[in-house]
Amino acid sequence: MKFFADTADIADIADLAQTGLLDGVTTNPTLIARSGRNFLEATREICALVDGPVSAEVVAADHDTMMQEAEILRRIADNVCIKVPLTIDGLKTCRKLTDDGTMVNVTLCFSGAQALLAAKAGATFVSPFVGRHDDNGFDGMDLLRDIRLIYDNYAFETEILAASIRHPIHVLEAARIGADVATMPPKVIRSLANHVLTERGLEGFTADWAASGQSIL
Ligand code: E4P
Repeated sequence: MKFFADTADIADIADLAQTGLLDGVTTNPTLIARSGRNFLEATREICALVDGPVSAEVVAADHDTMMQEAEILRRIADNVCIKVPLTIDGLKTCRKLTDDGTMVNVTLCFSGAQALLAAKAGATFVSPFVGRHDDNGFDGMDLLRDIRLIYDNYAFETEILAASIRHPIHVLEAARIGADVATMPPKVIRSLANHVLTERGLEGFTADWAASGQSIL
């Protein structure tokens, strides 16, 4: 499973990139607005920090303007992945961009039927929003299971990018289902390393080693 950081926080991305665990980054208009950074500049910096895909989202609602925005965004770097909404205009834009060899992430996916359309439009990634699905009384994991089944039935190559991940259990379940990618806030990526028995074990080893009076260095 690939790990993407769902953030526009450059310092956090730089720190995570050093762990070797980061395969890409996703941003959205809300994350960019929250960062207080200029969209194009921040995207350029992020693209230089990671080798993998960096999703940058168009904000227009119509196909022609989406294409104009995508033209500007895809010139930023080779690893820019254009994010488009799951609307008919977004899907039209997806097809045009992927036919030109540009990576596309179709976002705001909330049903298997929508995911089917994204795959038919040639999307590189489809982003089902697991957490927002849960928030509204649906099971986000059922959504992932549906999409996995549909994509496997037809051998679609579109990667399932589990998005709107809120906690480690979301990641674990998404991995069990076979989502290709999980995009998550940096704190969720870091929290995957936590386990009370790891901490307790380390405390024991550290105390026993100190009592032995030895040193490796
Ligand atoms: C994905 O690309 C989105 O940016 C993101 O996962 C949305 O998450 P949220 O529902 O926590 O805003």
